[in-house]
Amino acid sequence: MKILGIETSCDETAAAVVLRDNDGRGEILSNIVLSQIEEHAAFGGVVPEIAARAHLLALDNVVQAALDDSITALDDIDAIAVTAGPGLIGGVMVGLMTAKALSATTGKPLIAINHLEGHALTPRLTDQVEFPYLLLLVSGGHTQLLEVRGLGDYKRLATTIDDALGEAFDKTAKLLSLPYPGGPSVEKAAQAGDETRFQFPRPLKGQDRLDFSFSGLKTAVRQEATKLQPLSDKDIADICASFQKAVCDVLQDRIERIMRAENNGPAAIKSLVVAGGVAANQQIRTVLQSCAKEGGWDFFAPPLALCTDNAAMIAWAGAEHFSRGHTDGLDVAARPRWPLDETSPAQVGFGKRGTKV
Ligand code: KG4
Ligand code: ZN
Repeated sequence: MKILGIETSCDETAAAVVLRDNDGRGEILSNIVLSQIEEHAAFGGVVPEIAARAHLLALDNVVQAALDDSITALDDIDAIAVTAGPGLIGGVMVGLMTAKALSATTGKPLIAINHLEGHALTPRLTDQVEFPYLLLLVSGGHTQLLEVRGLGDYKRLATTIDDALGEAFDKTAKLLSLPYPGGPSVEKAAQAGDETRFQFPRPLKGQDRLDFSFSGLKTAVRQEATKLQPLSDKDIADICASFQKAVCDVLQDRIERIMRAENNGPAAIKSLVVAGGVAANQQIRTVLQSCAKEGGWDFFAPPLALCTDNAAMIAWAGAEHFSRGHTDGLDVAARPRWPLDETSPAQVGFGKRGTKV
């Protein structure tokens, strides 16, 4: 089957065509991502209204480019998969309405996809990872550890009680006047830095609960940066390296504790997967890989271009659902908040992008 995917939940206007064969293997036939970085750079972050308008202007052409690149006519598409949430609601509505219009005019089935599920299932597209697996989902809006037991069957083990990890990277970059988007800027600056110069906190490390908290780490960065004014390039590099080291220590602590529990239990899960924009960070990938190796687990991380937002992951999630007969009606609603595990309660804390789930 060939699935057209559409993604507009944040600041990338994206469309892709993905093929799924009868053995369940996927192939990306096209993957167009139009970044809005330039539109938002002056504001140091994503402005929702600007994002929605930019999606509206660009999406038709991006969809056409994805069809052209895959040498597929709209008629030869089997179904249309689209992000229906969670995300910035104006952008989500632009993508969803476009997909509904395409579905209504062509008669092709519509599949409403949870953006987080797109990230969560990406390793099944790239590496044919089998269920179940442990997923560390780290993006601009989410930081979660999930047991991925099967399609649509997710158990949340941990979430952040305040900022998402991507948000912590973005805010750290902003404090240090590094360019937007913050994650890649902090990673680049950290390469030349001394990670032992500052002892930033490792929030909730070693405590019973598995949840994350990053706002204290961000405050510690701000206090250090304020003390050192004016900041030299070396100060900035050292702060970034020490920040990234603290983040890696926290992630390692949680993963090791879960792996220890799993290894002492029924041992169903033996694969660790990282996904979401922050999974593009090389130091984080390296730390997770060595955790997995220590515990005798397999480790999977999507290629960098499939870590950050894209529509190939939405098309693939659509293919997984469509192959099981799942489709949605044209009345399906856009959802600003849409947890993967609807049974776990939202956490009390709020980050910039709303309640953490
Ligand atoms: O998944 P994503 O593209 O969008 C959301 O769904 O949020 O993730 C974007 C986040 C941003 O916060 C960005 O700063 C972060 O991922 N990010 C990184 C890196 N590349 C992107 N964080 C750390 N290191 C990176 N190399
Ligand atoms: Zn994302």
